[in-house]
Amino acid sequence: MLRAAVLISGNGTNLQALMDAVESGKLPIKICVVASNKADAYGLKRAKLANIPTFTLTHQGFLHREAYDMALLQCLERYQPDCIILAGFMRILGEQFIQRFQHRIFNIHPSLLPKYPGLHTHEKALAAKDTHHGVTVHMVTKELDAGAIIAQADVAIESDDTPVTLQQKIHALEHRLYPEVIRLYALNQLKIQDDGVFLNGKKLPVTGVKLFE
Ligand code: GRF
Repeated sequence: MLRAAVLISGNGTNLQALMDAVESGKLPIKICVVASNKADAYGLKRAKLANIPTFTLTHQGFLHREAYDMALLQCLERYQPDCIILAGFMRILGEQFIQRFQHRIFNIHPSLLPKYPGLHTHEKALAAKDTHHGVTVHMVTKELDAGAIIAQADVAIESDDTPVTLQQKIHALEHRLYPEVIRLYALNQLKIQDDGVFLNGKKLPVTGVKLFE
């Protein structure tokens, strides 16, 4: 069974969605460890409740990012993950880390990438008067939020939406989309290669597959 390490920094609702999908038998993976760069991340409690091993590695004491990344890699290797799932992990991973898990690091981002990489995506979508907002699951490369897109899902923006209501809608979408993408990967239906992302042997467009239409 595919062994996944989940990296978090905060609340961990996406982690919870993944754990729930595993628990209900919908997602055939083993979450072998949950790691955080913040000791007070609530997601650590969620993992402990589900009897999943956890560890925290804060950046304190590391002189530069590479040193942190290498220490993180070392800690993770003990659990022998096949892939890495970023679920609200608020650190950028460097080249060496990415190379070690090339084509095997996933992230979920609260916008329809390539629109709005980085933070404050709900505010940006509202300010731009977009009609739709959404979420993207993508591969992680050394450029922030810029790796190959696997899947997207969107919602309409209503005239009375605020950053808070949008965030709620986006979270609900994320909790459906992330387990589904990882399920396709675990079942070997989704393949990530140098020449693109393939779903059931078919190359996906640059915007990935649209789920839940
Ligand atoms: C999510 O919105 C995700 O898209 C972003 O960070 C947030 C994490 O939320 N990368 P949670 O900790 O899973 O609740």
